[in-house]
Amino acid sequence: MASSRDLPIGVFDSGVGGLTVLRALRERLPAASFTYLGDTARLPYGTKSPGTVRRYAEQAAGVLIDRGVQALVIACNTASSAAVEHLQRRCAPIPVFGVIEPGAAAAVAASKRQEILVLATEGTVQGGAYERAIRALRPDAAVVSLPCPLFVAFAEEGWADGPIAEAVARRYIGPVLAEHPGIDTVVLGCTHFPVLRGAISVAAGPTRHLVDSAATTASEVFRRFGETLSGGISGDSRGEIRFLATDAPQRFARVGSVFLGEAIAPAAVELVDL
Ligand code: DGL
Repeated sequence: MASSRDLPIGVFDSGVGGLTVLRALRERLPAASFTYLGDTARLPYGTKSPGTVRRYAEQAAGVLIDRGVQALVIACNTASSAAVEHLQRRCAPIPVFGVIEPGAAAAVAASKRQEILVLATEGTVQGGAYERAIRALRPDAAVVSLPCPLFVAFAEEGWADGPIAEAVARRYIGPVLAEHPGIDTVVLGCTHFPVLRGAISVAAGPTRHLVDSAATTASEVFRRFGETLSGGISGDSRGEIRFLATDAPQRFARVGSVFLGEAIAPAAVELVDL
């Protein structure tokens, strides 16, 4: 009989952005299997109210739990900000991981002056979860948060680098850095932003650190469950990924391949309703 340790790890996001987190999880837990759900029908979450995002997150988690998972990763900053504690209570004893606290830990570790800029969606900025998580680690930290909703559209469109992406990044970040020149660390606090890392780094300048929560979230999952998650540490074969999307599986496969860094076959994406 299969035990819960044989089940995949469930990962969900509002769309394809969370595939940057899945990519990091695969690097850290190469033999583990994953079921990834992208709620493409209802993207973006970043402009919606916390109550709506919490409801969507609960539905996404419900689909994954019904299919069987041994742990859940909320690979979306907006949903983590609105729903991580709620889902941790609702889904117990299944462990639920968000991306905000690992991202905050990465920022605090990288920043010498503890002057930190958080780039995120409107929902994440308004919720203030990054500030709280950073100040819980370093009460003396100075945190500035900036909504950058256009970055999501640019990443989805595949305009991740080049002069247009750099101009948009400069337009967003330039005035904030001019006002707060002591900022030495920039948090990519949205799962779409790591694909724009090149353009954001041009705008931030060569001396500032750019951090995202993908690698630190994967390390956190590994640290807490690496030894008990099936195939987490060892295993000869690479684990399987099952993809679910709530709309446009072909588009999910095409755009998602860039975020995941490996090809996704359209036929491998199952259309689901939440
Ligand atoms: N996945 C979302 C996040 O990380 C970005 C896209 C959206 O707004 O839904 O905040």
